[in-house]
Amino acid sequence: MSRINIDAVQKGLILDEPIYTKTGALLLPRGTVLDERRIHFLKNLGVEWVEVTSKLARKSAKGASGRLTRTTAGAGDHENAPDGAGSVHDQEPPEERAFYDLLREDLLLQVNSAVIHYSQQGSHDREMSDLLALFGGLLRERNRINHLLEMKSTDAFTFKHAVNVAVLAVLTGLAMRLSEESLRMVALGGLLHDIGKKKVPPEVLFADGALSPESRRRIEEHTEHGYDTLVRDTALPEEIALMALQHHERLDGSGYPRRLQGKQIHLFSQLVGVADVFEAMTSTRNHRPGYNPVEIVEYLMGASGTLFPERIVKALLDSITIYRIGSAVQLSNGETGIVVKANPQLPSRPVVRIVFDERRMPMRHEHTVDLSQPSHTTLCIVRSYG
Ligand SMILES: [Fe+2]
Repeated sequence: MSRINIDAVQKGLILDEPIYTKTGALLLPRGTVLDERRIHFLKNLGVEWVEVTSKLARKSAKGASGRLTRTTAGAGDHENAPDGAGSVHDQEPPEERAFYDLLREDLLLQVNSAVIHYSQQGSHDREMSDLLALFGGLLRERNRINHLLEMKSTDAFTFKHAVNVAVLAVLTGLAMRLSEESLRMVALGGLLHDIGKKKVPPEVLFADGALSPESRRRIEEHTEHGYDTLVRDTALPEEIALMALQHHERLDGSGYPRRLQGKQIHLFSQLVGVADVFEAMTSTRNHRPGYNPVEIVEYLMGASGTLFPERIVKALLDSITIYRIGSAVQLSNGETGIVVKANPQLPSRPVVRIVFDERRMPMRHEHTVDLSQPSHTTLCIVRSYG
């Protein structure tokens, strides 16, 4: 028996100690033959070391891994239909099932966290249960899970970004009163929109500093790679592949890869495109901190009608929390305060309790400003401290 670092494990090695998840569930029993996919799974789960026997298995478990790479086609896009993967579940080894259960759990936890992060106070409970049902339904079909797994293996950052984009796109779609069927497509398209990044070399994808024209071209190709991957899956509607292809296209034709304009870009792709930009601006990337909400709102409002459709930008800004309750903000008159209440109709103009005056001196008396009131139209938030 020997202890081997996961990066040094070759296929065909046999586990001499079972592997458990952090919560104590058995993931792979003793005696499991490690094939390429299982090694990949273990890496994704953050397992660093494994105990293996000194012998190699004569044959790797080829049959078992091949069977689950694709779900039977023909299940269509009806998540509410009976679970077409039931028979697959019955046949699959327990460790496969445990793994998929974990992936599902992980995805739903991230959806939970994104809903709490973005949705407005007071609508958490309803949106949470609607969205969890919707995302949970998406995972009934095994081929989708495999696409997601591919997505997750690109890197944890891209996966989290994809979940956030999917949640933002669905919240926006809800505000636009899209049908349930459309919302399901937008959710799945949001999750998979950057799947093509897997084919971009990491040294290009995560390069610091300015990009060479060649690197930029390689990164831009993720849209076409994503389309290629998803369009081959006959169980997925074409709109899903289109969201991967078109989410960087812009209304005025300045986007890529095809420089499409206006209605040439599918509505769902436009929706995912706006959610993608919003999410990318809020998060910290390559040593650059996220933009603050004032800058993001200004950018999106400024680009509304030229790069992005007005109705999508409006629906996004109307459906999410921009200034979190309890966050510190500075007003255009120099005063600093804490957001104490959101104004759902005017999310960029919440109620602020002033703490410091313009000279940074503590206020002697409690003073609250409701920025949505007509008397305060000249006042606005110029800085947010998160
Ligand atoms: Fe992208």
